[in-house]
Amino acid sequence: MASITIRNLDDEVKELLRRLAAENNRSMEEQARVMIRAAVDGQIGPGRIDQIERTLRELTSTHSAATPVAAPAGKILPPGMLSGKRILLIIGGGIAAYKALDLIRRLRERGAAVRVVMTAAAQEFITTLSVGALSADHVYTELFDRNDEHDVGHIRLSREADLLVVAPATADLMAKLANGHANDLASTVLIATDKPVLMAPAMNPRMWAHPATRRNRATLGKDGIGFVGPARGEMAESNEAGEGRMAEPLEIVAAIEALLEAGPKPLAGRKIIVTSGPTHEPIDPVRYIANRSSGKQGHAIAAALARLGADVRLVSGPVSIADPAGVKTIHVERAQEMRDAVEQLLPADAAIFVAAVADWRSENSAGEKIKKVAGEGPPVLRMVENPDILAGVGHHSQRPGLVVGFAAETQDLLRNAEAKLKKKGADFIVANDVSHESGIGPSGVMGGDRNRVRIVSKAGVEEWPEMTKDQVAARLAALIAERLKTTVV
Ligand SMILES: Cc1cc2nc3c(=O)[nH]c(=O)nc-3n(C[C@H](O)[C@H](O)[C@H](O)COP(=O)(O)O)c2cc1C
Repeated sequence: MASITIRNLDDEVKELLRRLAAENNRSMEEQARVMIRAAVDGQIGPGRIDQIERTLRELTSTHSAATPVAAPAGKILPPGMLSGKRILLIIGGGIAAYKALDLIRRLRERGAAVRVVMTAAAQEFITTLSVGALSADHVYTELFDRNDEHDVGHIRLSREADLLVVAPATADLMAKLANGHANDLASTVLIATDKPVLMAPAMNPRMWAHPATRRNRATLGKDGIGFVGPARGEMAESNEAGEGRMAEPLEIVAAIEALLEAGPKPLAGRKIIVTSGPTHEPIDPVRYIANRSSGKQGHAIAAALARLGADVRLVSGPVSIADPAGVKTIHVERAQEMRDAVEQLLPADAAIFVAAVADWRSENSAGEKIKKVAGEGPPVLRMVENPDILAGVGHHSQRPGLVVGFAAETQDLLRNAEAKLKKKGADFIVANDVSHESGIGPSGVMGGDRNRVRIVSKAGVEEWPEMTKDQVAARLAALIAERLKTTVV
């Protein structure tokens, strides 16, 4: 078979191909071959690279004129799809505006129709052309638009939507809505609507921390505006980090699904505890022992359970991702705090222990920063064991009906998971290989976006294929719902 030269494709197509290849666990060449074969079978003659490129675009749906987008062949979409939902997306003028492009795509993949209003400032960051191409609709920018205002366009825009989403929500847009301003199309639509509104703020940490923004956030919360994020992390501006980073597009999608209550609710009335992230065990006031857990898998599971209607209580260690929408999140740092928070949340119908809890902590964390003293050498840390939260709940007098543990191992994965199942009183263990040899993505399982797990229970071992962490979460939530069906409330 002739070889395929990926570098001949333009960057946009290459990027789409890269994503699809990763999703389908194929090389880019293999993915291109599969798509070309499909294209050749049905639509085009051989050897027509320009048509193939066009077909690739169409197959990946970015340029399709249809609304909404159909899932590309072979692509697994998570449940809770937004089929038939109409989202009015307001894009504000912040650096995170580029993420709104991915958000449009993610929403349309799930079946939503997306109509977009852009502020004048937003158009300094991204173009109406790319937004229009992705949303497959006219992009609205003007309040006094001769074509639109004959039927009071700003009212119509809000009337024809099920939900308004502001992403990125600038400090300015928050201030305008909190104070009732309506001097452009975005702010007028926001104040004229009777539909739910979700804001995804994004701004410099100092803008987010400013008392004026804090006041506006509190006012908007009282007015019933929903929020997702912001998260902590690196800002696009160099040398800036802190709270203010816009929630990732998939987190915003999860928040939208939760708000629209899309999909079935088999977990309605069930209280579920989830732990997520690492723990930080202090050595002194500035140093701690941590691990590489990002919280992505645990947070995705919490969000997936909430989408199925569960009352989710998430106990999260220190992470840089946003609290999942529709979930009550309790933030802790140390293993002992995590244990106390979990025990206070009992009784519950189920508890899912995803957090990577430190096995040990320094026996005495110093009250002051430990100083280097010439001639004294390095300090010796005596470690003591941390509480085993999973085993504690697995054998607790108020043990939930379903207890699930996670086992992150670098060797003897199955043997360790089976031993953990017996020792900890869990119903099943979700085992994942976090070694460098796991073959999952350049960043591996810990911190990365993909996972390959095995479900280890008394009944045996079930292998799941490699998926995104969101897909693992959706499938696990469905499994938990199935298990809880047979448990009396
Ligand atoms: C380079 C640059 C980046 C900006 N990033 C943000 C941001 O991330 N968040 C924000 O609230 N404002 C940001 N601003 C300021 C807004 O663009 C400005 O307040 C504008 O008036 C917002 O208009 P809008 O709310 O109508 O979109 C930025 C400005 C510039 C010049």
